[in-house]
Amino acid sequence: MKILVTGGLGFIGSHTVVELQNEGFDVVVIDDLSNSSIEVLDGIQAITGKKPDFEQTDLRDKAAVQNFFAKYSDVSGIIHFAASKAVGESVENPLLYYENNIGALVYLLQGLQAKPESHFIFSSSCTVYGQAEKMPITENAPIQTAMSPYGNTKQIGEEIIQDVAKVSGINSILLRYFNPIGAHESANIGELPKGTPQNLVPFITQTAIGLRQQLSVFGSDYPTPDGTCIRDYIHVVDLAKAHVTALKRLVNKANADKVEIFNLGTGKGSSVLEVINAFEKVSGQKLNYKIVDKRPGDITEAYADTDKANNVLGWKAELSLDEALASAWKWEQKIRK
Ligand code: WQD
Repeated sequence: MKILVTGGLGFIGSHTVVELQNEGFDVVVIDDLSNSSIEVLDGIQAITGKKPDFEQTDLRDKAAVQNFFAKYSDVSGIIHFAASKAVGESVENPLLYYENNIGALVYLLQGLQAKPESHFIFSSSCTVYGQAEKMPITENAPIQTAMSPYGNTKQIGEEIIQDVAKVSGINSILLRYFNPIGAHESANIGELPKGTPQNLVPFITQTAIGLRQQLSVFGSDYPTPDGTCIRDYIHVVDLAKAHVTALKRLVNKANADKVEIFNLGTGKGSSVLEVINAFEKVSGQKLNYKIVDKRPGDITEAYADTDKANNVLGWKAELSLDEALASAWKWEQKIRK
């Protein structure tokens, strides 16, 4: 059985390909290289000794997706990462997000629908909860009206998968990520943000390495202990392993329902200032930062209730914030050599 990983040369995708190969899965990657680079294939091979099959395919091209399924007729499992994911960009260019994030999903599901039985794992996000009322956030927390077209594509994607499950042999798991950070311990793969990083940790490491002048901390008067926002930062390798656990659950038919949902986080919240302090500790470097105005659209607090992931999925995050930050710093130093 071949497993398709879309966006498999991206940040979370590449780490998941490594863990799939480590567990003996035969992987084919689709990536359009719009937010990744072909050299990531070499990084994967350097870790696992195996280079996955690779197809540079635009998933918005229905015929191209159909041709893929004709060529790889033995694909019966898909882990779907490929999507546009910049919240701010989605506000400025919503149609790019609806075409890419929804169109591609529809074509992939059409490719599976003809098969008697198949497995689909969807990269979703805690962003679907908006600012949840209660912490930690469970999978039953209400879905809030999306704060951005990006978040809306995740909500719509989940609904599409639910509808298709009722009339097909597609069994799905929706994984709602909290904040993925870090890099593989080998520093052969990691996060490669294009242009100015939107996310906190790559901006921290680029500031520490001298690529950026100064980190701007977006607000320090939130209703939190130190006034800065709280998030659940999960090591990308832990996140990748959760995908393998989810795939095995589907392949072994251990899933209780045709669509299951799991929050993937550590269950621990860390503030922006706590992340900065932890980074300074693990890197031995002072970080140049200043407090500025809040970023529109940011929520105050989000961290996961991990009971369902731990006790039903059978997965638990093992790596700490310090380990994640140390791996991110090791990666930044390596790629800037
Ligand atoms: C974290 C905290 C910022 C940058 C987003 C998406 C989510 C997922 C992860 C795709 C916030 C603060 C950040 C900076 C800062 N993406 N910050 N200075 O916004 O929680 O989540 O990325 O799946 O769906 O919504 O992550 O890393 O951007 O921000 O102070 O330069 O760091 O205000 O409090 P976020 P983030």
